[in-house]
Amino acid sequence: MRQDVYRICLDFLETAENKRHWSIFNDVPWDRLDRSKATDKVGQCVELFCTEELYVPDYSSEGLALSRFSSAMAWFQTRWALEESHHGLAFRQYLTRSGLRSEAQFEALEESTFARRWGLPFQTARQMACYGALQEGATYTAYNRQRGIARCAGDQVLESIFFLIGRDEAAHAGFYRAIIQLELAENRPATLADLAHVLANFKMPGDGLIPDYVLRLRSSGAGISPRHFLERVVWPLLNTLQISREEMKAALRQQSLPGAAAAAKNPMPGTSG
Ligand SMILES: [Fe+2]
Ligand SMILES: [Fe+2]
Repeated sequence: MRQDVYRICLDFLETAENKRHWSIFNDVPWDRLDRSKATDKVGQCVELFCTEELYVPDYSSEGLALSRFSSAMAWFQTRWALEESHHGLAFRQYLTRSGLRSEAQFEALEESTFARRWGLPFQTARQMACYGALQEGATYTAYNRQRGIARCAGDQVLESIFFLIGRDEAAHAGFYRAIIQLELAENRPATLADLAHVLANFKMPGDGLIPDYVLRLRSSGAGISPRHFLERVVWPLLNTLQISREEMKAALRQQSLPGAAAAAKNPMPGTSG
């Protein structure tokens, strides 16, 4: 399995460097920034995404600690951290260059963000791979939706930012999917149990961490609906992994955790908005 993980990490790094690498300074068409498109609602939405991306120090330190058993996973984790850093910085640049937020406002935001600490929602590497596939898939779906909204509004800069960041999130989801595939081949019942456990207890990183997260997702239009989450994230993931809905429902029923019974009946975990 170690060799397979190495191969998956190497594939991820090669694609990241050769096909996906982008520059905040050169690849975003800042010269086309139209401040009239930067409405208050856009500001609320981008600020919320930005805040969630800003927890990179916590995400990456916890992720690296979990990767200590594998140098290949650590290489993935450091590249992943670089890409997530780009996301927060690109959103910050949009907020400040468009005049939606001042540098002073942003400093205050950063201070309040780091007053709280993100911790691992699940304790093992296999469970975190399941979480990563769902969370990155949900993030990609939300950003892709915002890309469409920015395109309709004629905001070329924001459309480009959501395209570049969304492409990274889709690649992150793909990486975790490949890891789950390996885990399924290694131990299918235990991996199914982990995936069911994560699905029954899923929530986005900002939920419970960023004040009024759910409320702000709704008011800014940044969130995706539970139905969207199911149709665009959960079912496609299960299809790719060749897990039938019946198999997943059976795994969910075996969970003795609150929420698992409800999720087995109607698996719509705690996405918001
Ligand atoms: Fe991100
Ligand atoms: Fe990501």
